[in-house]
Amino acid sequence: MKEYNVVLLKGDGIGPEIVDQAVKVMDKAASIYGFKLNYTEKLLGGAAIDETGIPLPEDTIIECKKSDAVLLGAVGGYKWETLPGNLRPEAGLLGIRSALGLFANLRPAKIFSPLRDASPLRQDIIGENLDILIVRELTGGIYFGERGRLDDNGIPAAYDTEKYNVEQIRRICKKGFEAAMKRNKKLCSVDKANVLESSRLWRETVTEMAKDYPDVELSYMYVDNCAMQLVRNPKQFDVIVTSNIFGDILSDEASMISGSIGMLASASLGDGKLGLYEPIHGSAPDIAGQGIANPLATILSCAMMFRYSFDETKAADAIENAVANVLEKGYRTKDIYTEGTNVLSTKEMGIKVIESIE
Ligand code: IPM
Ligand code: MG
Repeated sequence: MKEYNVVLLKGDGIGPEIVDQAVKVMDKAASIYGFKLNYTEKLLGGAAIDETGIPLPEDTIIECKKSDAVLLGAVGGYKWETLPGNLRPEAGLLGIRSALGLFANLRPAKIFSPLRDASPLRQDIIGENLDILIVRELTGGIYFGERGRLDDNGIPAAYDTEKYNVEQIRRICKKGFEAAMKRNKKLCSVDKANVLESSRLWRETVTEMAKDYPDVELSYMYVDNCAMQLVRNPKQFDVIVTSNIFGDILSDEASMISGSIGMLASASLGDGKLGLYEPIHGSAPDIAGQGIANPLATILSCAMMFRYSFDETKAADAIENAVANVLEKGYRTKDIYTEGTNVLSTKEMGIKVIESIE
């Protein structure tokens, strides 16, 4: 029997609750489709700070590098907010993405038809089956550029740097073109080329690459306009490729179109098969431990893991179909509740998904 080694980084806040449900779902799908998952739990974020004093222990990196895939819950919380930047839980998340070379973050914003009512946008705006893929650069740009504090003629100041080289731009745009080829062949490159030099280089590079993808219709959009277009006419988008910080912001916005940030999965990939899979929402410390968090984004992230890291397409489809099924039957967590539906706890939602896998 095929076996895959998965590292679990449950992290902080609601992380452990949602990962626990996702593990049960993965095991059920694996048992039906004839493979086995071996899990190792490691520390990341606040949980790691509490145990070891740092957000990303060496041993976590080593274990992740050896694995076939990593499943991450979420990191961060009030408790660690006053720590210096490089010792905060979020630094652990950036560190693991970088250590594993995961430069491409795929964030699909897809609407499940039973959740159409949960979208804050009008039905005619979201259309029949909205399906956007955001391809976010993940290991460069302002998140990783030089930063610091300085004295600005006696006034305390701080700076962060947005920097991209052509190779970094090429490899992420390649992922964008490739994704577009498998979908509706439309790629929108989002930047701020009217102001930023790094965006101008980005635009030149993506334009040059377009020659190799004659079937893909390439367009460009400034990020402010894109933020507006996502709520004005989201149906115009197929694949969006963009920088680290713009992708961070636009993916939160796109998630809300689908009803709740609690529904959006993500895959972080590099050149090989190893990937890190995580919901795009955070650790939600305000609702942690109450058993009400939505585990579906994490469960859908597992489907992405099966698809991209294991090529277990049928098992991935089975998880996605099970989620659609449960929603179809009117089961909801609190964040996606609308009148006439049934609210379930995190655990109950996990059980419903497991029962629906076939
Ligand atoms: C995300 C999160 C992270 C990011 C934070 C927690 C560092 O917002 O995955 O979108 O900005 O990348
Ligand atoms: Mg974010």
